[in-house]
Amino acid sequence: MTYTLAFESSCDDTSIALFKNDQLIITETASQVKIHRAYGGVVPELAAREHTKNIIPLFNEVLEKGGVTLQDIGLIVVTIEPGLIGSLLVGTECARAIAKFNHIPIKGVHHIAGHLHAAHLTHSIPYPYLGVAVSGGHTHIYIVYDIDRYELIGWTLDDAAGEAYDKVAKMCGLTYPGGPVIDQLAQKWSGAVIPFPRPLLHQKNFNYSFSGLKTAVSLYLKKNPHYILEQVAASFQKAVVEVLLYKLKKAADHYQLNNIVISGGVAANSELRKGVATQFKDKKVFFPELKYCMDNAAMIGYVGIKLFEKHGEDQFESIQPHASKVLATL
Ligand code: KG4
Ligand code: ZN
Repeated sequence: MTYTLAFESSCDDTSIALFKNDQLIITETASQVKIHRAYGGVVPELAAREHTKNIIPLFNEVLEKGGVTLQDIGLIVVTIEPGLIGSLLVGTECARAIAKFNHIPIKGVHHIAGHLHAAHLTHSIPYPYLGVAVSGGHTHIYIVYDIDRYELIGWTLDDAAGEAYDKVAKMCGLTYPGGPVIDQLAQKWSGAVIPFPRPLLHQKNFNYSFSGLKTAVSLYLKKNPHYILEQVAASFQKAVVEVLLYKLKKAADHYQLNNIVISGGVAANSELRKGVATQFKDKKVFFPELKYCMDNAAMIGYVGIKLFEKHGEDQFESIQPHASKVLATL
């Protein structure tokens, strides 16, 4: 019996998970949302400093709750890219030090590979499938052939969908992160919607663009100072969800893929989940459980364990975090 400890610190959440063989036992996450909320978004240096404060107490807590010591750990997994470099360095160096001084092999994992596999924590999903990671930093569509084989087929040309949510929320004077707040406000509106643009909807590729939509909302707010917040939220959300689902459907049909995984923070969105039920009747769509949509170490651990089973290589010497690196192995 062997245990795995996984670390995720690519943005503003410090998260550590413990697995017994390939079964997830515990995931603990220290959120920094309250700290960054005051600035309307994540402040990179503050995020890195908070990780340094949180990571060791969280590590002790996970070992204690799991009833294990470092002698029980057979593998360490850590997110190496992409993300805020200061945040990534805290996680990778902490994980490398623990691995080195306790003679434990270490495996590095791409953050997006984690998101694309988060639904595997609770579902059995056959390869290949169409996977989309929709978060604050990414809106990327992949064909996922295996744990280590990904083909990038579409991406955002500017803002990520979650980033657009956060920016629109800020324009409306709402708190960070904007996604959950806009989602809740949108659900309260059942009247007419504002016809915001659907960027790149009819282009022949699978790319997205959300900055024009964000600008359209900004112009609307300026022209209509007495706007109805719920109406703006619902209209913006409708535009985002419509574009996200349209391109996904187009890609799934083009590549003849019947299984689709929607992951990342925006996968928690209620309208997106509802839309899938009506628009993908002939496909099987998987979402991670809500708690595994946001950044978490469980999804990273899942990928690290599978990669180690397949390749078995200790990466202590080669682990180097990168702020931006595309996940593409084809
Ligand atoms: O995956 P995640 O935790 O971090 C990144 O890797 O970026 O995603 C965070 C993003 C934020 O932009 C947040 O506003 C968005 O996910 N988000 C949502 C919802 N919940 C979180 N967006 C739309 N609807 C939601 N319910
Ligand atoms: Zn993420």
